[in-house]
Amino acid sequence: MGILLTDIRKSFGSPPTQVLKGISLEIQEGEFVSIVGRSGCGKSTLLYIMSTLDPPSSGTVLIDGQDVNAISSRELHRFRNLKMGFVFQFHHLLPELNALENVLMPAMKANRQEERKAFAISLMEEFGLGKKLKSFPGQLSGGEQQRVAIARGLVMEPRYLFADEPTGNLDSANGNAVMSLFRRINQEQKMAVIYVTHDIDFSKMAERTIQMSDGLVLS
Ligand SMILES: Nc1ncnc2c1ncn2[C@@H]1O[C@H](COP(=O)(O)OP(=O)(O)OP(=O)(O)O)[C@@H](O)[C@H]1O
Ligand SMILES: [Mg+2]
Repeated sequence: MGILLTDIRKSFGSPPTQVLKGISLEIQEGEFVSIVGRSGCGKSTLLYIMSTLDPPSSGTVLIDGQDVNAISSRELHRFRNLKMGFVFQFHHLLPELNALENVLMPAMKANRQEERKAFAISLMEEFGLGKKLKSFPGQLSGGEQQRVAIARGLVMEPRYLFADEPTGNLDSANGNAVMSLFRRINQEQKMAVIYVTHDIDFSKMAERTIQMSDGLVLS
């Protein structure tokens, strides 16, 4: 089980420019992996493809043995809801929902918000958001919004967490709190964490680092 990428290529535009140039890699269940490389080398593109949010131009993505680009979009939604958490660069909070409701969004989709509510609140307290449960995104700072998005990614206790620069807008205390919590859930629940970072210290927390350069993985 785990994630298996085979010869992943991705092009954008016409004429097409190749952004990922043939990436094969494997991520084991429960691994804690960082992805690093210069701006524009393809880290976010790779993370989107690995996490099923964007299809590759060619190549295959197997997750727990399932070819995720060969199943219907309905099945894919179910698969994601069941197994995956996402924390992305632009966190897309819903402006008309308060912070707690935003965190509970993935639970709402699965009709499990009551059951997940206490856990959602405990995550928010851990991230220093205990007094902001009822605040709307427009009333929160950038770093607070980011922590809301991180709590949302964790609320279903996913098997795989994909995070694109999760500490990008955070001061070092909050950045450390987030990375330590990821590590703890990784160890306690065997949640695999795959995260992109520009921070050398956070990158070193990983068991393994995937180094990218110009659309390829350096071994
Ligand atoms: N939807 C798109 N359309 C066209 N080009 C794109 C698209 N998405 C990404 N690219 C291009 O692909 C390249 C890689 O982008 P990507 O976002 O994966 O980089 P990155 O490594 O995550 O960079 P950063 O560290 O700045 O976030 C960039 O040159 C970018 O312009
Ligand atoms: Mg990026």
